[in-house]
Amino acid sequence: MSSLNWDDPFAKSPTPHMPPATEETVTASPPVETTQPKPAADATPQVSVEPHDVQPVNVNDKRVINGSTDVNQLAPFKYPWAWEYFLNANKNHWTPLDINMTQDLHDFNHKLTLEEKHVYTNVMAYLTTSDILAMRNIGLAVMEKMTAPELQIYQARQVYEESLHTWTYQHCIETIGLDQSEIYNRYRVVPEIHQKINMANKRLESVMRSDMDLTKPDELEEFVMAYTFFGGIFEGCWFYNGFSPIFALQRRGLMKGTAEQLQYIMRDEVLHASFGIRVVNQIIKEENITLDPAKIQQMWEEADAAEAIYAGYILKDPILGYSLESHMEQFRFIANRRAKQLKHETPFPGAEMALPWLDEQANMRKEKNFFETKVTEYQTGAALKWD
Ligand SMILES: [Fe+2]
Ligand SMILES: [Fe+2]
Repeated sequence: MSSLNWDDPFAKSPTPHMPPATEETVTASPPVETTQPKPAADATPQVSVEPHDVQPVNVNDKRVINGSTDVNQLAPFKYPWAWEYFLNANKNHWTPLDINMTQDLHDFNHKLTLEEKHVYTNVMAYLTTSDILAMRNIGLAVMEKMTAPELQIYQARQVYEESLHTWTYQHCIETIGLDQSEIYNRYRVVPEIHQKINMANKRLESVMRSDMDLTKPDELEEFVMAYTFFGGIFEGCWFYNGFSPIFALQRRGLMKGTAEQLQYIMRDEVLHASFGIRVVNQIIKEENITLDPAKIQQMWEEADAAEAIYAGYILKDPILGYSLESHMEQFRFIANRRAKQLKHETPFPGAEMALPWLDEQANMRKEKNFFETKVTEYQTGAALKWD
């Protein structure tokens, strides 16, 4: 193993018997006179020793937002569940390089129909942009507004996971040999994908302001609605719906490497959605606010309309074992579950589970062919629970 070069971590190790290059050996120039004034010998370094609050944080004073306790003190925990999310998130370790994609390359070129290729490439086009949005939402808009460090620490992990997901899609796109610039730009040129991304982007832009004053009712409502959208819809429903057409291919023995990648991502997303919903419910309780039920219902209906347009495009020509109708029914069924967790009225009464195989298919706990895929099971080995 090569030694770490502190000046250039990517530098190759020096050749044995050769002294490492130094400033002196590389540059033969004479030493340059410094123009910096030298401090006077008796100058005292300026360090602030002003009086400050020395009281430890009182757990009862901690708040999700609008708190004034020291955010650099982790304990005492007001939200021990947030720390548990962080510990659990750290049990899911993988990188996209751990999963064998060889068969996917063959499947894409020799087995997928044109309609299935249309589904696969457009799902990738949607997801690549989606995960960048998810990363920016948590990292740039949400984290800075939290006033309890245990919440920020899980969210920091979430930011990393979103970037890992982006790497995963990139790895799939690269391995299969798709045109990267075309795939990444597709959400801009395909209106059916763009409208769905645009809906999320508007929510993000409404809260990505460091001067947002969450003590003002209007601003607070805007923030809570945006977080509800990202936790409940964007991560809680749309990722799930985003992955399901690929799981349908996996069920038929196709694109199994990609599907396995998505299974790992879904593990993370289950935690993200659940954490976001919990934070939203906590804010509503602490800030003693009531969201407008009409605005909530409208948000769900807009999400449904956006999903219908998107799904109508990716499934414009039928593929075996997966239909537009079942996709939309499953969206509404999952939306009702998320709405219940958020204590909303049921947005789509009567929606039924149209894809009963999906939870099991998405689950990691299944027999693996050791020659096809590297087994990188979770430490917990626990079943995936959507509630
Ligand atoms: Fe993600
Ligand atoms: Fe996420």
